[in-house]
Amino acid sequence: MKKVEKPQESILAGFARETGEMIGRIQSMLEPKEATFTRKPGDESLPVDREVIEAQLDLLGEHQKMLSQIGESPRILATVLEVLRTDGEEAKVIIFSSGRKLSVPLLEGLEDRQGKLQAGDLVEVSLDTEQIIQKANFLPRGDVVTVKNIISPSLIEVQHGDTPKVVYRGRFSDNGQAIEAGDRAYLDEGGMIVVANLGKDESRFRVTDFRRVEWDEIVGLDRVKQELMDAVIYPALHPELYRRYRQTFGRGVVLLGPPGCGKSMLARAVITEIANRYGPEGLASGAIFLKGPEFLTKYVGDSEEIIRSIFERTRRHKKKFGWPAIVVVDEAEAAFRKRGSGKSSDVEITTTTTWNAEMDGMEESGAFFILATNRVDLIDGAILRDGRVDLKITIDRPNQESVRGIFEKNFTGLPLQETAAELAAFAAHEFFSDQFPLFEIKRISVPEPLKFSLRDIVNGAMIVAIASAAAKVSIRRERETGKESAITREDVRRAIADKQAECLRLDWSDELADFTHDFNLDVIDISKVVQGQTTK
Ligand SMILES: Nc1ncnc2c1ncn2[C@@H]1O[C@H](COP(=O)(O)OP(=O)(O)O)[C@@H](O)[C@H]1O
Ligand SMILES: [Mg+2]
Repeated sequence: MKKVEKPQESILAGFARETGEMIGRIQSMLEPKEATFTRKPGDESLPVDREVIEAQLDLLGEHQKMLSQIGESPRILATVLEVLRTDGEEAKVIIFSSGRKLSVPLLEGLEDRQGKLQAGDLVEVSLDTEQIIQKANFLPRGDVVTVKNIISPSLIEVQHGDTPKVVYRGRFSDNGQAIEAGDRAYLDEGGMIVVANLGKDESRFRVTDFRRVEWDEIVGLDRVKQELMDAVIYPALHPELYRRYRQTFGRGVVLLGPPGCGKSMLARAVITEIANRYGPEGLASGAIFLKGPEFLTKYVGDSEEIIRSIFERTRRHKKKFGWPAIVVVDEAEAAFRKRGSGKSSDVEITTTTTWNAEMDGMEESGAFFILATNRVDLIDGAILRDGRVDLKITIDRPNQESVRGIFEKNFTGLPLQETAAELAAFAAHEFFSDQFPLFEIKRISVPEPLKFSLRDIVNGAMIVAIASAAAKVSIRRERETGKESAITREDVRRAIADKQAECLRLDWSDELADFTHDFNLDVIDISKVVQGQTTK
């Protein structure tokens, strides 16, 4: 926006002052009394009647008074919508003020003094003369909106809260100043016209609640870590090497698997890797962490606009930094629910459609997407189609060795009756034993009933919870006895047994169905275990 120097006085007050000065000068010319005047041109040497001049001076004085009165008269602020100019005629100006559109004239000389008037200018209009008296040079109180679409040379679609609306582009018209989708625009008080372009909001998708996860905090999953590094980090670090082998970045990867097994941790570890390699600036620009259930409501704008802005943001990042931005969508099933399942809403259809369109329009190595989900069955198939996010990595439940590792990490540094390694080995062994069944499954072909146990629904989060519960048992003992204590094997057993009891109260039908999938026809009976006993 062109900056207009604020005049010391209004234009009218200026005219009034100048008129006053003129009057003063003429009066001084009339001194002394015997002065005579000569008419020009020609030298006719005819004296002019002093009274005639004095009468004219009086008139000028009247005008001066009027001018200064108007100069101080009340005025309203208005926004210029359009300036209509016809050669040889005074400009007509369409203004918008207090909810009304008006056509008003300009004070003569205004443009000479303050420059050409443009759409989007704020002006002061005299209530007395209904003229534009001068430009005002401050921004009005108005709403900030996000530009969605350029509709025509003079109109633009913006997103205002939840609702889209169409406003005048003003000086941001086709041949005026630049404005484009994703820019934040400042509207006039009436919300009709763009008065300033605040540019893109670079902080909009910035990772804020960033929790670092280093790779070695994640126990096991070595193959998965390797695959993620291969897919995301190395191609960015060694573009030349990859180019020689004609290998490019994929577009993304989806991490699948049961809850609590480290998917979110892995995604965070990738973001941490970005922070470690590219510093805070790289992190701020090159990492976006979205939570499926909330990201469409967390940011202002409708889902279409938010998704467009995310991709737009990755394009700007790539241009500036040269390596692709990483976009994580955790709990992705909440954002990209299957369309046409009867449960999907309009918002979900728009979200999925826009996402796929942006994905398809993305240049090679434009950005890299990491989707994480427990429920890949709920995700719209088109999201994961070949050429989009097509690398699928399954994260399995931890095995006994990984469980041992997670126990050890969580025991280390706590008061223990033995070493963390020893207690962890005991805990993992115990956990994987047959002692914590949830269901017994009788089969025709096998005499011994099969046990569906804690180990069959294990996940990392469960192990962390058991370690913490064991610590609480020891804390309680210290509190009650007043004597220093430490976590014992028995405490761990207690914690595992409590977890078993807790799990017995929950529904495991999906997991049971998976478990018996391969020998389904062979099953005669499935019974729930109750506190060590087996009942129907
Ligand atoms: N492989 C693992 N190593 C260490 N801790 C783990 C592991 N898997 C899960 N956890 C623990 O479980 C918690 C939940 O894991 P998370 O990554 O959120 O699971 P998901 O996203 O797969 O549901 C983690 O914060 C961590 O404490
Ligand atoms: Mg998760």
